[in-house]
Amino acid sequence: GSYQSQVFAAGGSPFPFTAKGLEEAALDNLPREYFDYIAGGAGSERTVAANEAAFSRWGLIYRVLRDGVAADASSTLLGTPMSVPVMLAPAGVADLAHPEAERAAARAAERVGAVQVLSAVTSVSLEEVAQAAPRGRRWFQFAWPDDEKLARSLIERAEAAGYGALVVMGDCYVAGWRTRELSSGFFPFRHAHGLGNYVSDRRFWELAGFGSMPEDLDDLTSEMVAAAASTWNRVFTKPALLPEDLAVLRSWTRMPIVVKGVCHPDEATRLCEAGIDALIVSNHGGRQLDGGVAALDCLPPVVAAVAGRVPVLFDSGVRTGTDVLIALALGADAVMIGRPWLYGLAVGGQAGVEHVLRSLREEFTSALALTGHRRCSSLSTDDVFPVVPPH
Ligand code: FNR
Repeated sequence: GSYQSQVFAAGGSPFPFTAKGLEEAALDNLPREYFDYIAGGAGSERTVAANEAAFSRWGLIYRVLRDGVAADASSTLLGTPMSVPVMLAPAGVADLAHPEAERAAARAAERVGAVQVLSAVTSVSLEEVAQAAPRGRRWFQFAWPDDEKLARSLIERAEAAGYGALVVMGDCYVAGWRTRELSSGFFPFRHAHGLGNYVSDRRFWELAGFGSMPEDLDDLTSEMVAAAASTWNRVFTKPALLPEDLAVLRSWTRMPIVVKGVCHPDEATRLCEAGIDALIVSNHGGRQLDGGVAALDCLPPVVAAVAGRVPVLFDSGVRTGTDVLIALALGADAVMIGRPWLYGLAVGGQAGVEHVLRSLREEFTSALALTGHRRCSSLSTDDVFPVVPPH
């Protein structure tokens, strides 16, 4: 049955149904500095606010579904089937939210049929995540290390573990000015959070100055933890990532290559010409550049520049099923959520992430029918109009 009927049958849900409610519940459940790492953004957090506010400038046009047939939210992207066009965005250090971290998220995504994009900086290795949910579908977010052997090792491991696409993080080669982190003094990587993919890599330990990989990764000495944190800091990303580099990446892998963090239409054009397989319009949830344009405002120009050559994904500010619909109507093929799944994880582990995904799927599917559609593919700009003139 539907999630709605299950919730009513159970007499309610332990989990909140609004984005604000989830955020507040996560705040209640987490140490303040962990919550701030997840919730925070760059500078005055104007970009974070703009990302969410942008959705309220689009209105959906309500229609009646003439034949009463239920809508189907499923689709396929780059060969990956999904029950709903809502993916878990790559978000590192999920163990701040819950000890089961990315494994719990993997199981939730598998249950719902949603795609998980695994961050490069997870608390457990990409192999452990794949083992936690062997029938799940997932892609791997690649932070291009400043060491070719390590880069190739991570890519080979992702391919071997069945990851279906490589998502290149294009927007994190410079640190954002994150005021909450500065205020709390808490930076997770200094405490060796998020190094699961690195400490499980032989090449990483060579770079750290150790001849071989430690035998027991669950029981590293403090000397090893310190060496790992400083090595990661040194090799985390190449200082420059250029469209030409994508040809190199192409020669290393058969996985489709997706670039995350595209906001300018000219960049989208260049990336299409460089032969990428898909791109993600995103401003990293407002965590990098303060005073930025809402990511949603970047979507229509990028969609126009891409002109159907490759799929366009979107993230930054998606909070409801109708937000998903607006993004798809404006030309996205799927969206990703960041903070909402981390809040679900903080509030209820696997069950909390499942709750977030099921709620979004059902609200989206209902909205799809109420705007007169049976499938995502028929959504278009005819379904929305600007309710306040764009600034
Ligand atoms: C992120 N994001 C991110 N992106 C990425 O490519 N690699 C990463 O490791 C991380 N890490 C990360 C940690 C945390 C705590 C957050 C909140 C976000 C960005 C993420 O993929 C996505 O772009 C945004 O989270 C989307 O915005 P919303 O949904 O959080 O508004």
